[in-house]
Amino acid sequence: MDILEKARQYEDINRVSEKVRPLFHVTPPVGWVNDPNGFSVYQGKVHLFYQYHPYSTGWGPMHWGHQVTEDFVRWHECPAALAPDKSYDSEGCFSGSGIETDEGHVLVYTGVTKEKDGKGNIQNQCIAIGDGINYKKIPANPVISGDMLPEGFSREDFRDPKIWKEDGIYYIVAGNRDGNREGQVVLFASEDLYNWNYKGVLAHSRGNVGSMWECPDFFGLDGKHVLICSPQDMEAKGYEFHSGNNSVYYLGNYDKESMTFSSTGPFALDYGLDFYAPQTTLMPDGRRIMVAWMQSWDSIFAPASHKWHGIMTFPRELDIENNRLIQRPARELENYYTNKVIYKDEVVEGSRYFDGICGRAMDLAVEINPGTFHEFIIDLARNEKYYTRIVFNKDKDIIETDRTFSGMVRDVACIRRARAGYKDGTIKLRFIMDYNSVELFVNNGETVLSTVIYTPLEAQGVLFTCDGRITVNIEKYDIVV
Ligand code: FRU
Repeated sequence: MDILEKARQYEDINRVSEKVRPLFHVTPPVGWVNDPNGFSVYQGKVHLFYQYHPYSTGWGPMHWGHQVTEDFVRWHECPAALAPDKSYDSEGCFSGSGIETDEGHVLVYTGVTKEKDGKGNIQNQCIAIGDGINYKKIPANPVISGDMLPEGFSREDFRDPKIWKEDGIYYIVAGNRDGNREGQVVLFASEDLYNWNYKGVLAHSRGNVGSMWECPDFFGLDGKHVLICSPQDMEAKGYEFHSGNNSVYYLGNYDKESMTFSSTGPFALDYGLDFYAPQTTLMPDGRRIMVAWMQSWDSIFAPASHKWHGIMTFPRELDIENNRLIQRPARELENYYTNKVIYKDEVVEGSRYFDGICGRAMDLAVEINPGTFHEFIIDLARNEKYYTRIVFNKDKDIIETDRTFSGMVRDVACIRRARAGYKDGTIKLRFIMDYNSVELFVNNGETVLSTVIYTPLEAQGVLFTCDGRITVNIEKYDIVV
């Protein structure tokens, strides 16, 4: 049996019941998932592929899993799309992207092979074309070989092609490392998808932003250009970046003629514990939507009982406001709202529950009005034993998530902090919860913190605590899919 067929049969037989997986976030049918791949619209539907190893809950030879949606909430599982079954991708089909063309749905991915001496890997860019279910790798693969890179650029770290088309020309940005172990993004162009030319370095770490830039994405938005990438080996910096792998963006202007990008950055994309390798797509209605792997490479954990591992973020709409990216949950979520509960100007002094404010699959908005206090705390997914704590420290203007008591049985990172952006005495917190995750959007998406939790589902409570006296407005909807 061929390698792809084997994966398809395996996932069919071993599929984990949807009842024990998050309701409206993408998770693998079985096994392991990391980066989102091939996020693209094809024949009117949104396709999301992902790095996938169906056979275990740990990373392994990379396949591409595949799901399709029409509204970002209900996802239809399709058979695995790619498997490492060719001489040019025998060590794995690494991350890449997708685009709709006249020839079909084109996937561009990194084919990984062993170096001739068998010691290291080399990475080249390959293409598969399909009909939305089945994809065929083209005979011309690899279409972009590391030999096209200038002397000294890494052939071992050359991956994650993101494709787009502009004025009749195809472009690809890919992640790379230069001879000094610094991250960079390299640019290629092609008139026909098959013959590619190297065009130069689009952006570079310039000495302080990590050793290798993974999963670049590059697009125009609100009159500017945005470069997203996920640098490895970053050093923590204030509340902006944490040690290890981060996802960042640069904001600036792109000169199409000279193919140069002048920008400011890096800026953090998500301040939570779990967010990496985001990828975007452009919707027919003009919205730029981003999805990421809700996980950090350095804090990998899932309960031993789980036969699946890895969650995608809920897709987010991107906008630029005041020279920063703003992220908001895709508005389609509102179509699944039920059980509306609203409170206005309610006092919190000490600890307090609110009738009807509880659950593990909900959209919960809390607006804190001016008041006399130092700390305001919300405990989510709470019962006698568990809670996920969100602390707003007004004096320090810091928002903190803490998942120490959220079902963790490993010593992985549990606390993350960000600047809260307390304005005119108010702050707006919006939580998207879905069984195993909390995505917190602060002040309409100026700051986002995404966190995976493994708290047993019986823990449903939401407790509000204030060390002074405040009033809050609360609006909650359960999400029923
Ligand atoms: C990012 C990444 C990519 C690579 C893939 C392999 O998380 O390391 O650079 O293509 O994962 O699974």
